[in-house]
Amino acid sequence: MIELSTERLLLRPMTAGDVEAHARITGDPEVMRWITGRPLSRTDAWWNVARYLGHWQLRGFGMWGLFERATGTLVGHVGFLEPDGDVGFELGWALARHAQGKGYALEACRAAIGHAVALGRDRIACVIDRGNERSLRLAERLGAVRTGRTTSRGADLLVYELRPTAHLQRDPDAPAPR
Ligand SMILES: CC(C)(COP(=O)(O)OP(=O)(O)OC[C@H]1O[C@@H](n2cnc3c(N)ncnc32)[C@H](O)[C@@H]1OP(=O)(O)O)[C@@H](O)C(=O)NCCC(=O)NCCS
Repeated sequence: MIELSTERLLLRPMTAGDVEAHARITGDPEVMRWITGRPLSRTDAWWNVARYLGHWQLRGFGMWGLFERATGTLVGHVGFLEPDGDVGFELGWALARHAQGKGYALEACRAAIGHAVALGRDRIACVIDRGNERSLRLAERLGAVRTGRTTSRGADLLVYELRPTAHLQRDPDAPAPR
């Protein structure tokens, strides 16, 4: 499994020791509003970490925990999921409420996109509820372009597409994978 490092963050796959912190983040209804529509229970958070680790095993890439380098604290997660039969190679993200508004998601996504290039990927999907303004803003900051719509669990979702090589050409300061 791969770790990436940026100026302020370490991106590494979560471990059993991260479940409590992950449960605190995903137990916040505000964080989960546009993802599951409800906070995760402690058990669901455990299964979530198990699912992310299983994805790393099956695909060789997956979701990273985001750790503040200054404090070692888990502040969220960012990474790629590609379950069979879904929208394809998808970038997902979430930050604890206290970690929002600092540019952490942007910084982590740029590192993740650099890694997508290393994986030889030329298209990344982002699927976002039209009410999720902060995520729409993040997708646009990353240079993603709206390409369509889809539905999931009754929600009307916007599909964005990001071309990682074009993104890196536009953003030469994007951190390279370690
Ligand atoms: C979507 C989400 C990750 C965005 O978080 P965020 O902190 O707003 O995103 P960014 O990392 O891009 O930070 C940008 C903000 O930090 C500010 N900022 C502060 N310091 C900064 C810095 N050093 N660099 C860049 N931006 C900085 C920017 O001005 C910007 O604020 P603004 O949008 O009010 O102008 C967050 O809202 C979240 O976790 N939401 C819940 C989970 C969710 O919905 N997931 C997505 C499902 S599709």
